[in-house]
Amino acid sequence: MALKSGNVAPDETELLELVRTQPAPQHVAVIMDGNGRWATRRGLPRVAGHSEGVKAARTIVRAADALGIRYLTLYAFSSENWSRPSDEVSMLMSLLERSIHRELPELMARNVRLRVIGRAEGVPHEVKRGIDNVMDETAGNTGMTLFMAFNYGGRDELVDACRALARQVQAGELRPDDIDDGRIARALYTGGAPDPDLLIRTSGEMRISNFLLWQIAYTELWVTPVLWPDFGTHDLYRAIVEYQRRERRFGGV
Ligand code: IPE
Ligand code: IPE
Ligand code: MG
Repeated sequence: MALKSGNVAPDETELLELVRTQPAPQHVAVIMDGNGRWATRRGLPRVAGHSEGVKAARTIVRAADALGIRYLTLYAFSSENWSRPSDEVSMLMSLLERSIHRELPELMARNVRLRVIGRAEGVPHEVKRGIDNVMDETAGNTGMTLFMAFNYGGRDELVDACRALARQVQAGELRPDDIDDGRIARALYTGGAPDPDLLIRTSGEMRISNFLLWQIAYTELWVTPVLWPDFGTHDLYRAIVEYQRRERRFGGV
């Protein structure tokens, strides 16, 4: 489709039409960054940015589902985020639990399966129980899979995968020479899901921050200066349109 507006930036409807001219990416991953700065710029406490960030996450889940994206992975709390002040950490813990509980009816209505990926250790018991409940409730859903990376570290994930494979070797169930790309991928928290096609990072930081280290080997990266609480459907469509215009070569010519 040709853009009607010439040099003027396309509006949301035009962007959506453009997105729909090509297949949607199968898997989109997002580093939802910039909540703290969003709040600080408004003279608000950082936690106000996190609450606002939940709204943006809800908007993006809806939009991704409507586009037919099969897997959406959202980075909510990293293994390094424990180094933040304890009141911010505990607020983030309870915010996640409350949010997924609140979203359960909509996740069911949309047939979305929620999988929280990351280590359980360190997560407060009641938060863990809430997460497990929503994962169990949505386990049979067959629509989009929503991976919520929570207490997640890409290196932790690789360590855990190595340990799981080593245990299989020790038990005589696996030969070291049978360990290949596919086996490692299946031993990851995202086991069975295709690698992300597109990784979006908000707030302009040009780094990966320990996210999906194995899975993003050939993922297309898209960084925007927009802070996460301001990120909306318009930004998602822009990212996807740019992704669709790229030539993925995977090392070929
Ligand atoms: C992202 O926003 C949310 C989490 C990491 C939990 P930040 O809290 O990192 O916001 P900035 O980067 O400080 O602005
Ligand atoms: C990455 O953001 C983690 C999440 C979005 C959950 P950070 O704000 O923690 O990353 P750094 O510290 O800027 O690398
Ligand atoms: Mg940050």
